[in-house]
Amino acid sequence: MRPTILAGNWKMNLSLSEATELARGIRDGYKSDSKKEAWVFPSHLHIPGVSEILSGTNVKVGLQNIYPSALTAMTGEISPDQGEDFGIKLALVGHSERRQFLGETNAVCREKVHFLLTKGWTVVYCIGEKIEEREAGKTFDILSSQIKEGLKDISSDLMTKLVLAYEPVWAIGTGKTATPEIAQEAHAFIRKEISQLFVGGDKIADAMPILYGGSVKPDNVKSLLDQKDIDGGLVGGASQKVSSYLGLF
Ligand code: 13P
Repeated sequence: MRPTILAGNWKMNLSLSEATELARGIRDGYKSDSKKEAWVFPSHLHIPGVSEILSGTNVKVGLQNIYPSALTAMTGEISPDQGEDFGIKLALVGHSERRQFLGETNAVCREKVHFLLTKGWTVVYCIGEKIEEREAGKTFDILSSQIKEGLKDISSDLMTKLVLAYEPVWAIGTGKTATPEIAQEAHAFIRKEISQLFVGGDKIADAMPILYGGSVKPDNVKSLLDQKDIDGGLVGGASQKVSSYLGLF
């Protein structure tokens, strides 16, 4: 009963005219009766234009990052209230680029996840191991601590708005996709962790979409989506061109 979601993370790519053109192409090409949901995460500066183009469609627009507070003095950050002005209640938290290069820890992620969920937002919480962690046999320990610390003391009723994204860092932007079997193994582990961590966990885990991210493309998406615990993709490069994004559906 879980939805299939193909989410495009545009990261810090695209000029305003390229983002606008991409949004128009998605608006015109995405079939509104598609069984697969389309979510896009443009740069903050492109949110006004992209949300306007996609308003009235079934394509959901989300923010790549958010500060966990109401309007306040916090230079350079964006508040969820400001997102809501554009009808947005969807955000990524803990993308590996933010963890790796901007010092975002599990504790910081936890604050963001908690704040957003209590405001009724949908959160895509990103986790995943680095290559040296995988090679040292630590993949499941890393995933487990990202789950336990990033979702610490989140109540079971809030968890219904959480989406998990498994993005092995070694597969992001490298052209190296995890094999469907490797990805499935990690997704099954994540679902089991969620089921054990929360009151009523079986039901939460069963209903929670878990997206795979890391070099997803039109030619490998089907083999990934065929896996029992893979409910969609969080896609970087291939989501930033109309043809390759629509080619995922
Ligand atoms: P790529 O699809 O470019 O590997 O990026 C994945 C990603 O980081 C999505 O958030």
